[in-house]
Amino acid sequence: MLAWQLDMGVDEVLLDHPVPDVPPLRLEQLLAENDGTSASMAVTPAIRGAASQQDIIRSSLMLSGDAAPDTMSFDHQPVRANTGADLAAVSSITSLAELQAGLAGLDACPLKHTASNLCFADGNPGARLMIIGEAPGRDEDRMGVPFVGADGQLLDKMLMTIGVDRASAYLTNLLPWRPPGNRSPTDEETAMLLPWLFRHVQLAKPDIVLLLGGAAAKLILGSNDGIMKLRGQWHEIDFGDGVLRPALASLHPAYLLRSPAQKRLAFEDLLRLAKRLTANGKKGALGE
Ligand code: URA
Repeated sequence: MLAWQLDMGVDEVLLDHPVPDVPPLRLEQLLAENDGTSASMAVTPAIRGAASQQDIIRSSLMLSGDAAPDTMSFDHQPVRANTGADLAAVSSITSLAELQAGLAGLDACPLKHTASNLCFADGNPGARLMIIGEAPGRDEDRMGVPFVGADGQLLDKMLMTIGVDRASAYLTNLLPWRPPGNRSPTDEETAMLLPWLFRHVQLAKPDIVLLLGGAAAKLILGSNDGIMKLRGQWHEIDFGDGVLRPALASLHPAYLLRSPAQKRLAFEDLLRLAKRLTANGKKGALGE
């Protein structure tokens, strides 16, 4: 039976107990079965205004999907350089196209000059779900599209389990350019780019935000905790427009590729996400 399942492409165990001789579980059943384990809402102090946005910028961001999620180095110094002028300019931008053009012309950012392409976003900008990853990898840099490499393919498969695809999600990254050699961004680069990300969220107006990986979670949630602690809980985040948006942190697909046993935790997070999307869905189950 196991051999047959492997032949059929089954490579993950998703539930604690086998469910024999019944039709495949439907999403509603999975959600109902997980009722007892649903995450509580953690209310994160709202991020209000430019000064607070900058207070959550931390240095020593480690990219590449949390190579060691519990051992991330983290410096407590907020980064303040370079941001006042950027914030004023960025907040006057009124469309996603303008934001993309503005980023494309951001010559002051060193990352722009070493990357092959700007990776602005992918998916549906009108989707209720916005996904924020870390930084483009080699494939994304080559194609100028977020999450097109192996990480993205795993992400697509995982999202499909809750009926979400790129037509029902909008994807971007903390950084729109691949840092050379996948190095961590400097404090200045992060400080320069964070206002653009916040404006990106404000203009896309998602109902729900999914943060992938420790770098995104720490930066957006303004926490020093590791991703293992931050994941799986809802937070209310103000991205600077006064709107409190539910945000859920989860494990980065790059980490899951290296540690497949942790997919189980990621799947729990996806069920939480599906439940929230379904509960809040005004335009159909998952926002179409
Ligand atoms: N990892 C990310 O965080 N984002 C991408 O776009 C690709 C890989």
